[in-house]
Amino acid sequence: MATAVFYLHFASTFSRTNSISSFSYLPLPKNPSSTSAVRRKLPSSLGLYSSPSPTPSPRTRAVGSPAALETEAGEGDPKILLEVRDLKASIAESGEEILRGVNLTIREGQVHAIMGKNGSGKSTFSKVLVGHPDYVVTGGTVIFKGENLLEKEPEERSHAGLFMSFQTPVEIPGVSNIDFLQMSYNAKRRKLDLPELSPIEFFGFLSQKLSAVNMNPSFLNRNVNEGFSGGEKKRNEILQLAVLEADLAILDEIDSGLDIDALQDVAKAVNGLLTQKNSILMITHYQRLLDYIKPKYVHIMDDGLIVKTGDISIAELLEEGGYKAFSAE
Ligand SMILES: Nc1ncnc2c1ncn2[C@@H]1O[C@H](COP(=O)(O)OP(=O)(O)O)[C@@H](O)[C@H]1O
Ligand SMILES: [Mg+2]
Repeated sequence: MATAVFYLHFASTFSRTNSISSFSYLPLPKNPSSTSAVRRKLPSSLGLYSSPSPTPSPRTRAVGSPAALETEAGEGDPKILLEVRDLKASIAESGEEILRGVNLTIREGQVHAIMGKNGSGKSTFSKVLVGHPDYVVTGGTVIFKGENLLEKEPEERSHAGLFMSFQTPVEIPGVSNIDFLQMSYNAKRRKLDLPELSPIEFFGFLSQKLSAVNMNPSFLNRNVNEGFSGGEKKRNEILQLAVLEADLAILDEIDSGLDIDALQDVAKAVNGLLTQKNSILMITHYQRLLDYIKPKYVHIMDDGLIVKTGDISIAELLEEGGYKAFSAE
């Protein structure tokens, strides 16, 4: 239930919608500050794009130090979009520490992949980034587009341009896909002080997005994810991403449960959305996704840490040696 509520709160951001009152029965948190467990006050001096560090170019190194590898900038390198430093987080209920000091830098237009065995903390990391209330941040910093991400509510993170596709997309009975998408999109427009789109205007906008992700319009009138196949759910997530035009999309196991045709469709949809500006963080257990969506960097997570960073050749090493070649111990 917490996940469903969070999903609505983060992905749809319509808790402050009063123009579509028929949705007020949805199980949204009454008090938006209920997610404050994940908030942490950080010095305001962090609100700047970080400066480059003087480590060697990643292009010359296949495998290197996870902390510094992608941070440094060469001439004309794109701006840093996300900078995670020494991020530590625990499960709110039990206090068990899961993330033990994660470092990651993502620049505009880059595709990154995090791989790692089951239980290594990949989903926890992505959920902490979007402010999931199941986790408490206990250390470190996260700067997104020059601002402290950790002090923002999940909804504000979404408005700021962060999107997360869940490993298990939530079904929302009684809410049609098109209404859900329109509410999400208009919530974003309100935030940007832009006029909301009418249903007809929105349909025009949505039609382009549908063709970008190669999705059948018949999905629009079905309830969100209800009765969708695994592949349809994943493609629906990508449609949400297309509509919200996020700067950073975190795609958690979009390959899970898909046959090869569905995987290719989903990958094609994702590739259709890539621009010079927006970035993707894909999380996957298997190398095969990387055959279809090509990452610039591959990171290996183990026991709550990124233990290795390199290019796609890391994934090839994994194929040969398995995850034991990349243990945190
Ligand atoms: N909400 C939660 N409640 C209890 N344990 C959790 C929760 N979230 C994650 N964990 C635990 O944290 C560890 C990392 O999980 P997860 O981040 O889902 O790993 P991965 O996505 O790499 O498979 C696992 O041991 C998992 O059981
Ligand atoms: Mg996971």
